[in-house]
Amino acid sequence: MGTWYLDADLAESPMYKPPERIKHRLPLAVVPSSVAAATSRLFSPLVLKSGLRLNDRTWVPAMVPWRATAEGLVTNEVLDWYGRFAKGEPGAIVCEATGIRDVPSGPLLRIGHDRFMPGLERLVQRVREQSGGRTRLFIQLIDFLRLRRRPSSERFFRSFLVLRAEHRAILSEMTGDESWADPDRRSDSRVREQLAALSDEQHVEVLDARELEALRFGARERVHDEHLPHIRDLPQTLPSLFRAAASRAKAAGFDGVELHFAHAYTMSSFLSATNDRRDGYGGDRPGRVRLPLEVYRAVRAGVGSEYSVGCRFLCDEVIETGSHVADAMWFAQRFAEEGMDFLSLSTGGKFDDAKQPKVGEAAYPYTGKSGFECMPTAIADQRGPHGRNVAKQARVRRAIRQAGHTTPVVVCGGINRFDQAEGYLQAGVGDLIGAARQTLADPDWFKKLRLGRGAEQRRCVYSNYCEGLDQRHKQVTCQLWDRRQLSEPHIGLSADGKRRLTAPPWPERSSSG
Ligand SMILES: Cc1cc2nc3c(=O)[nH]c(=O)nc-3n(C[C@H](O)[C@H](O)[C@H](O)COP(=O)(O)O)c2cc1C
Ligand code: SF4
Repeated sequence: MGTWYLDADLAESPMYKPPERIKHRLPLAVVPSSVAAATSRLFSPLVLKSGLRLNDRTWVPAMVPWRATAEGLVTNEVLDWYGRFAKGEPGAIVCEATGIRDVPSGPLLRIGHDRFMPGLERLVQRVREQSGGRTRLFIQLIDFLRLRRRPSSERFFRSFLVLRAEHRAILSEMTGDESWADPDRRSDSRVREQLAALSDEQHVEVLDARELEALRFGARERVHDEHLPHIRDLPQTLPSLFRAAASRAKAAGFDGVELHFAHAYTMSSFLSATNDRRDGYGGDRPGRVRLPLEVYRAVRAGVGSEYSVGCRFLCDEVIETGSHVADAMWFAQRFAEEGMDFLSLSTGGKFDDAKQPKVGEAAYPYTGKSGFECMPTAIADQRGPHGRNVAKQARVRRAIRQAGHTTPVVVCGGINRFDQAEGYLQAGVGDLIGAARQTLADPDWFKKLRLGRGAEQRRCVYSNYCEGLDQRHKQVTCQLWDRRQLSEPHIGLSADGKRRLTAPPWPERSSSG
């Protein structure tokens, strides 16, 4: 295991720590010969309903690397990132969560306007070139609601809090001074100052739950904020936004799209059991799945039946009041009967249990228990990080099969060994093997396995160093290689010049002759 390079600020990342802290070693890996690999299910092809053929069942799920411009455009660093994955020739790569709106979203890729097309076309071309046309490329389409950074207490009370009569009433009760309730005697600005000076405990008494959240975490919109016109109108606006984005993806040459219905974002929030909208787009399961289905139908109408459209959603939100595996089984049946080409399963990753961010930072949906289940680390409970959610994912797939559908299912979470992946496929747990961090640690690992050179695999140690970078919107790299061969000519370096941005090349010819 290499040295762990944790910058001081990364080491301080507020991540969930399971109560039982067992440090799990990497399990022994069975390395197949090239003949065993060639006859395995992992390296057998799979044809989607659209007719698209994947050369094998290896799948790189979406990972945001924070390499786009501040305007959401493809950069050379984005091209290098995907080109490097493509060199490992996986069956499919899903390009990172890409914003469907034409609004500023920081250095996150965007596809909400035609000006993004030339960059996206170059991205498709790079993946084709680097994989020799072997790898299929999907793009993940995302919508998200507004999330503010956590404000200082002073700023919150001065600028953000919408002052209500109740605030004045509670203040006067608390202080025994009736003048606080009277706007003629105490100006709004005096009330704001007084509120800011209260203790944390007193803030609990004065503010309602959403105001308290806005103070402590930063204000976050919910899909059930129907009093806000842009939220109320989401069922009218989103289908056409997703449809336009998918049509651009098709025109740019992507092999398909993955609708992001997972984690902490808008569409996942519609599916969530916490969605209590009253307009027919929330409440029971048919209400919650309604908009995701309408989005899918709009996209399908835009791209036609011979284009691949799937979605990523959660087998379990892992929050108490959220959707669980029984909901996911039911949603999966609906998605399958609508004709989706694939269903990719993830777990957790919600804002609901995220840790409090520092002042000036935004809440990050992978810092609570649900985040841990999404990207489990080597320090975990008895169950460890490897495939800890595949039993739930298997139940979702079984429900799809029981309903008579053959829709392929992508399983994911702590998969980093051939025998493990092959075992899941043989046992019918899934149809495609997703490996995100393992492929970041070693973009060539699938190819190494295929060529019978699995002993050369660099294995992810599930430290979540990469995740800490993601959390701070820093260029994502892996601790196992980002300080290696820094003197190599023409390599891209991180903004601070300390880390290489893509994995060192694999000297493919050295031992194969
Ligand atoms: C740096 C980083 C960025 C990620 N970005 C996305 C994303 O854009 N969309 C998404 O659905 N999942 C994202 N994920 C989650 C992964 O796709 C995957 O579900 C998760 O890492 C668990 O799989 P693994 O154990 O194989 O890493 C990200 C993960 C990492 C480490
Ligand atoms: S990919 Fe991420 S979790 Fe895996 S070893 Fe590298 S930095 Fe650690």
